[in-house]
Amino acid sequence: MTEEIEKLKRARNAVVLAHNYTRGEVQDVADYTGDSLELARLATQVEADVIVFCGVYFMAETAAILNPAKTVLIPDPTAGCPMADMITGGQLRELKSRHPGAVAVCYVNSTAEVKAECDICVTSGNAERVMATIPRDREIIFVPDRHLGSHVSSLEGREYVLWPGYCPTHARLTAATVEAARAAHPGAPLMVHPECPREIRDMADERLSTGGMCRFARESKADTILVGTEVGILHRLRRENPGKTFIPVSDSLVCPNMKKTTLENLAESLREMKTRVVVQEDIAVRARRAIEAMLAVG
Ligand code: 13P
Ligand code: SF4
Repeated sequence: MTEEIEKLKRARNAVVLAHNYTRGEVQDVADYTGDSLELARLATQVEADVIVFCGVYFMAETAAILNPAKTVLIPDPTAGCPMADMITGGQLRELKSRHPGAVAVCYVNSTAEVKAECDICVTSGNAERVMATIPRDREIIFVPDRHLGSHVSSLEGREYVLWPGYCPTHARLTAATVEAARAAHPGAPLMVHPECPREIRDMADERLSTGGMCRFARESKADTILVGTEVGILHRLRRENPGKTFIPVSDSLVCPNMKKTTLENLAESLREMKTRVVVQEDIAVRARRAIEAMLAVG
């Protein structure tokens, strides 16, 4: 399969981008693996005609919005993000009407329609930097993740109007599970994703995007690290740090949508040039402004 995928990539002049949570074999065949921010940036830099996005739909949609001249494919278009679907454009418009003048910020884990209603996007990798660019006297609406929102709001020391969305995968992590992992590996630092509930974030040593976790793993002097996020990242952590041990805090942190991309449907996607991600032009134009405002923060 890997050989066929490599041949098809050359024939199509395609680049394969994979999120850190995808299956190990998909990460291994990808040209680049990264977090949402790294992949959005890469999508603006690659020269290939075709981008095959292995991840969930909003990520492929972001790549398509940033690259109207390229063909963006997603191997399984049903790979959605339940958190992104927790708010609609209409609900956000209604919320904005109750907070006139507020700056509307959305986590990239949102639909193009929601991004189109926002002033700026954030990812877990840049949220603090982006929020710091918003004047202190402005009211802030933050959607859809209440956990990332409350995390950054407490770092910044100001209140946001939060939407009650959340990631069902990270919500599965309980304090008891974290305590058990801590007890089994005393002294090992614990890194968690900011999509985890506050109780879990408060127990962690580091709250990081998946890209941030890869960097922390490389730089840390610890030889054992506890990992509180989707288990797909363990593949990359272990491959890049063969001398270190990574312990998932819970084996149940599996995002079923991130597992929908397989070598089979990736090959099929390249072979049959499907499924193309197309965003309605008027929505794409407005969503692009919010994404580019984020990318401009650096
Ligand atoms: P990252 O941007 O940290 O990779 O997170 C994406 C995501 O979907 C986490 O659940
Ligand atoms: Fe969405 Fe959570 Fe899956 Fe990330 S891990 S794609 S936030 S459901």
